Amino acid sequence: MSMQRKHTWPSLLTANGKGIAFGGDYNPDQWPEEVWDEDIRLMKQAKVNVVALGIFSWDRIQPAEGEWDFAWLDRIINKLGDAGISVDLASATASAPIWLYNKYPEVLPQDKYGHVINAGSRQSWRPTSPVFKRFALALCKALAERYADNPTVTAWHIGNEYGWNNREDYSDDALREFRLWCARKYGSIDALNKAWGSSFWSQEVHSFDDVLLPRHMGPDSMVNPSQQLDFERFGNDMLLEFYKAERDVIAEISPDKPCTTNFMISTDQCAMDYAQWGREVDFVSNDHYFHEGESHLDELACSDSLVSSIAERNPWYLMEHSTSAVQWKPLNARKRHGELLRDSLAHVAMGADAINFFQWRQSAFGAEAFHSAMLPHAGEHSKLFERVCELGEALDMLSSAGVPGSTLVSSGTAILFSAQSEWATRCQTLPSNKLNHWHDVRDWYRAFLDAGSRADVVPLSAHWEGYSTVVLPTMLVLSNEDAYRLKTFAAAGGTVIVGYASGLVDEQFHVGLGGYPGAGDGVLRDMLGIRGEEFNILGDEAQGETREISLSNGMVTRLWQNDIDVVPDADVLATYEGEGAEEWELQGVPAITSHAYGDGKAIFVGCDLKCEDIARLISKELSEVLTNTSSSIDYATSEFEDIDAGANRSVNNAILHTVRKGENGIFDFYIVRGNSPVEVSVEAGTVLVAQHCTQADSSAQPDHQTRYALQRNGILITKRQA
Ligand code: GLA
Repeated sequence: MSMQRKHTWPSLLTANGKGIAFGGDYNPDQWPEEVWDEDIRLMKQAKVNVVALGIFSWDRIQPAEGEWDFAWLDRIINKLGDAGISVDLASATASAPIWLYNKYPEVLPQDKYGHVINAGSRQSWRPTSPVFKRFALALCKALAERYADNPTVTAWHIGNEYGWNNREDYSDDALREFRLWCARKYGSIDALNKAWGSSFWSQEVHSFDDVLLPRHMGPDSMVNPSQQLDFERFGNDMLLEFYKAERDVIAEISPDKPCTTNFMISTDQCAMDYAQWGREVDFVSNDHYFHEGESHLDELACSDSLVSSIAERNPWYLMEHSTSAVQWKPLNARKRHGELLRDSLAHVAMGADAINFFQWRQSAFGAEAFHSAMLPHAGEHSKLFERVCELGEALDMLSSAGVPGSTLVSSGTAILFSAQSEWATRCQTLPSNKLNHWHDVRDWYRAFLDAGSRADVVPLSAHWEGYSTVVLPTMLVLSNEDAYRLKTFAAAGGTVIVGYASGLVDEQFHVGLGGYPGAGDGVLRDMLGIRGEEFNILGDEAQGETREISLSNGMVTRLWQNDIDVVPDADVLATYEGEGAEEWELQGVPAITSHAYGDGKAIFVGCDLKCEDIARLISKELSEVLTNTSSSIDYATSEFEDIDAGANRSVNNAILHTVRKGENGIFDFYIVRGNSPVEVSVEAGTVLVAQHCTQADSSAQPDHQTRYALQRNGILITKRQA
């Protein structure tokens, strides 16, 4: 495991170099130079203080092999610097020029059918291509040499959303590198055969030169899941190595400027093992695109929580989000009044010290012409630009109040996420192909909010032993080591909640024997006090069959039930009941159990549940978890004193409440989750920092408290002494 790089935050060009970084991707090469001065005038008007420059500008910087043109880049960087706007300068390698693909078509990736991926979009390159790497690193070197000493450039933006278009490559370069990767990982071919279970279907290999990529093997073929999981890891590792090679070329020439790359942790995306990537950046950056509908804010907070954990609670950089609609979904909803500011401040509430957008000026052409931007097609005299200016003001106020540098206070509960389980649940040879680890993490996150509390999302590979409760939703893959970590944690007094379809396979995708879940040679089973023999899978496919089964506590399960026995000292919290249970021989079988283990306890939730039911479970059957997680604030008396006890408390489930703590004070963020107004009373001596869709009640309140009425999309930010 490589060492974590030291967290280094990029400076702004403000007097003390500090403040919340506000701006967006800037693509001046899409516009005639006459527009640039107007851009800068309007950026200043909106209080923009940083732009990410040149992300897709390779062709303009290197118009032909051996030809360079930095003059335009010098001009725009100078203009930005003169206006006090700092530059996060791209390595410009995300989109290669057509001349490169024409001359060196061997850099193009191949899909699993052997089709070459055509040029014409972006990221049409294979990370394993030595030719592509040579060109990309030459570009990094040229940029670093030119701008290492430029005071306007304060950070390096390496690549862009690695893996967006080239996450999987089945080319011959990939095959060569995969064989080398396997040789490094396994050391001997016997070890690989054992790990991949190659005796199944006569797949033993005799040398690393026999190792195959999981290319298309016929319409009905099934891929060896152990090989597939290694291929996922390999794809992640190749892109990470590519990023590191670019970073190292730049960092060697420009050691004083921090490097980052933008992750894609949002809605339906969590494609990489970002816990691993987080150790390789100087500051963590993420792109977040919103989830339409009632879970919009909850999903944002859930994604951000994982980002904040990966950043080890240091402030992190929101590199992209949208001012309004995107253009890449089937239907692209716009943001309603208040949502632009609410979303932006919610990211700050979740630990972001940079609020940036894709992109500054809305494109007039190209694939993203209908993607919203900070400066819309309608121009500066528009509602949207007014809102952008309003946001600039608000962020400025937060900077003056001392928010930057403060860190998000942790909760007492960690919902664990693992990229390995995320990849593994997408495998096509499981009892159900409807499993989705990341979505179940999101449901549990939401359920904690619905239960009036807030959990953190934490990588399984991180240090989570400081939490009082850990939750493992659909954690399909558990290594022996992780199973033992959980056992030690529970024995020492922790509470472990294990969801259905967890701990079924180890990191080689070998099933643990002796009954489910078999992780850690039975350690997980012992801890939970259960043993399962079969899974009961429901779905719409089987006509005439029952599609749901009820639980004795009124809940309902629709996808997956574990048919288990329990040890005598386990408590059964709910059983399967009713017609569906009868039909599937599950009548009276335990569905949710609790087992005392050492000084702690282990809870098994053996079936899928709707978010509302998980929330009910948390607030009723598992209510002691809530006491560990957070003490609900009584807003009539508004007590904050035990903040250091690790409490992040919600008024109730109508508010998302987070706390950031720093040398300038303690900042409370209250954000309305639903559509109804909420009242929040804060104690005397608390200073108002910012409010949005919120009104203070001027009538006298007990104990000199102040009461605020927060409307839909309302936010209240207050400050108190540390
Ligand atoms: C990604 C990319 C941007 C842009 C946006 C559009 O995040 O990094 O260049 O394409 O998507 O939403």
